[in-house]
Amino acid sequence: MSTTHVAVFWWILAAVLFSIIHASPQPLHIRTQWNNGIDGYFIVSPSLLGRGWTATITCNKEIDQIEIWSAMLISSNIGSGKSTIVVRNDDIFSDGDSHPPEEVEIVVRMATDNNIPQCTTETNPISAPATTPAMNGRTTLLTTTEPPTPKDFNYSEALSLSILFYDAQRSGVLPADNPIPWRSDSAVDDHGDYGEDLSGGWYNAGDHVKFNLPMASSAHLLSWGLEIWKDAYQSAGQLDMMYDMLKWPLDYFLKCWNPQTQEYYAQVGKGKEDHRYWGRPEDMSKFRPMWRPAYKCTRNDQCSDVAGETAAALASGAIVFKDRNATYSNELLTAAKSLYAFAKSNQGTYGTTAIMDANNYYRSNSYKDELCTAAMELYKVTNDASYLQDAISFYVPNSKSWAFSWDDKNVQCALMLYRAQGSRHYAAQVDDFIRSYMPGGELTQTPCGLAWRLGVGPLRYAANAALVALMAVDEGFGGDAYKIWALKQINYMLGDNKQRMSYQIGYGTKYPQKPYHRASSCPDPPTSPCGWDNINNPGPSPQILWGALVGGPDVNDVYVDNHVGCDFNAGFQSALAGLIHLQNQGRLPSSSDPLQSQQIKNCVT
Ligand SMILES: *[C@@H]1O[C@H](CO)[C@@H](O)[C@H](O)[C@H]1NC(C)=O
Ligand SMILES: *[C@@H]1O[C@H](CO)[C@@H](O)[C@H](O)[C@H]1NC(C)=O
Repeated sequence: MSTTHVAVFWWILAAVLFSIIHASPQPLHIRTQWNNGIDGYFIVSPSLLGRGWTATITCNKEIDQIEIWSAMLISSNIGSGKSTIVVRNDDIFSDGDSHPPEEVEIVVRMATDNNIPQCTTETNPISAPATTPAMNGRTTLLTTTEPPTPKDFNYSEALSLSILFYDAQRSGVLPADNPIPWRSDSAVDDHGDYGEDLSGGWYNAGDHVKFNLPMASSAHLLSWGLEIWKDAYQSAGQLDMMYDMLKWPLDYFLKCWNPQTQEYYAQVGKGKEDHRYWGRPEDMSKFRPMWRPAYKCTRNDQCSDVAGETAAALASGAIVFKDRNATYSNELLTAAKSLYAFAKSNQGTYGTTAIMDANNYYRSNSYKDELCTAAMELYKVTNDASYLQDAISFYVPNSKSWAFSWDDKNVQCALMLYRAQGSRHYAAQVDDFIRSYMPGGELTQTPCGLAWRLGVGPLRYAANAALVALMAVDEGFGGDAYKIWALKQINYMLGDNKQRMSYQIGYGTKYPQKPYHRASSCPDPPTSPCGWDNINNPGPSPQILWGALVGGPDVNDVYVDNHVGCDFNAGFQSALAGLIHLQNQGRLPSSSDPLQSQQIKNCVT
């Protein structure tokens, strides 16, 4: 078949699947429930992003109250023995900038005066899909009947590239040794209500908002990997680069937190305002000043999640910097302690009163997991048993996480508690989680063997789960099965896949050419203009966004250019460190091991 025919074939298949998925009602999933109410959620298929959709929620009972997040309520008929609620996409989704899954997960809170309702949801596009304009000309399709040949990937190279991606995300005044030639100083005026300097940190994804929850969770994941597998960074010759990279967000967090006033700035930039702009971060205020408000948590707000995660990143930073710069390590620890106390003192999620703008992008579902990991990091560095007691009290037992992600760290906490205490039930929870991702578990597996959680950023979920598996191996459980599974997930990302391409930009010879990323889509700075045409027109991005892991393929292993993000690379990079560590110890099977070719055999067109 010619490339066009293949494209047409996939398009028809996608259209058929699309109608199957959207015509039939799905159950409303329950996240939490209490005596007379639930927090339910449903996932809007990413194929509906960028166009309008409606969802009809039907329940078998009367409902007294409803609250909807991330969607708009159109109508509700809730008082006649049965309830029907219709919602539609929030305008935020039509900005042309679709985001990680927090944008496609719709949360419905319901309260009733009797039993918990049973509900289903049915999602439909407002108008039939014609083409996907934003993706015009950006599809990469291959046709082949041969399975990929297993090969030995160079994890050290992938690791060093990943560090470069974070260098490209830097905001603020860049150092003289900035390795990204098309980046320079930007957003140097970011400031708080009283002029506090808030320059620095990482831009979130392809946009220029600084969201501290995913930023801190990325920094923490990276630091955790360095803490456990420092030898990997050493053997890859990347130790100095890694410390340098990690210091960037940590320095920023130190600016954001003021223990005297008990104020923590946890977002700079406003989602909608920022996403309307397409261009370089260096030019954000060139033609008209962009409004970049700073949002903070005060002692009257609940910010346990974002402040907790930041405390975790700072405490983990204190651990890794201990033998590098004791002064800096102490600085990080002091801030981590006071920020943790702040997070713990007024418990709740940051979207409740403090930073509502974040709810549209990184709405946090719980704060106990962040308090738990923060307490564990503080316990590791101080050895103070009260932190361990805290962690145990915040840990949620017997809950199987949907994912290990910027939002949910319960499985990470289970790993940390297991390391500290060795109790089998923590390991059992980790096992449950990993098995749900492995073949035979709960997740859809693509024909080429990727554990596919969701259409937006599937690789990041698989990479994070692979990291959990490698951490488990490090703790002595899971054995070869976990090791091989993690290896295959990462190998998939580097080239053992249907596209025969690396999903990490710049790795190998074939990789994504046009990620959804403003800075790299622009021609050489500073003179050539840059705007929406630069992303909407076909053709590769002028700058190579070295090291970025893209969102990934669809459920059939087919790839259309998509997003990148700080949180996409973090678990991936730490998983690479885990693989290099095993390699250093001679414990990783090579490509000639028959175990490696199994999944690849299924991977033919
Ligand atoms: C892997 O990549 C690194 C960095 O690019 C390079 O120095 C090294 O020689 C490579 N290793 C192998 C086995 O090719
Ligand atoms: C160590 O950290 C302190 C505090 O951040 C800093 O002032 C100092 O320059 C650092 N020392 C080195 C050798 O980097």
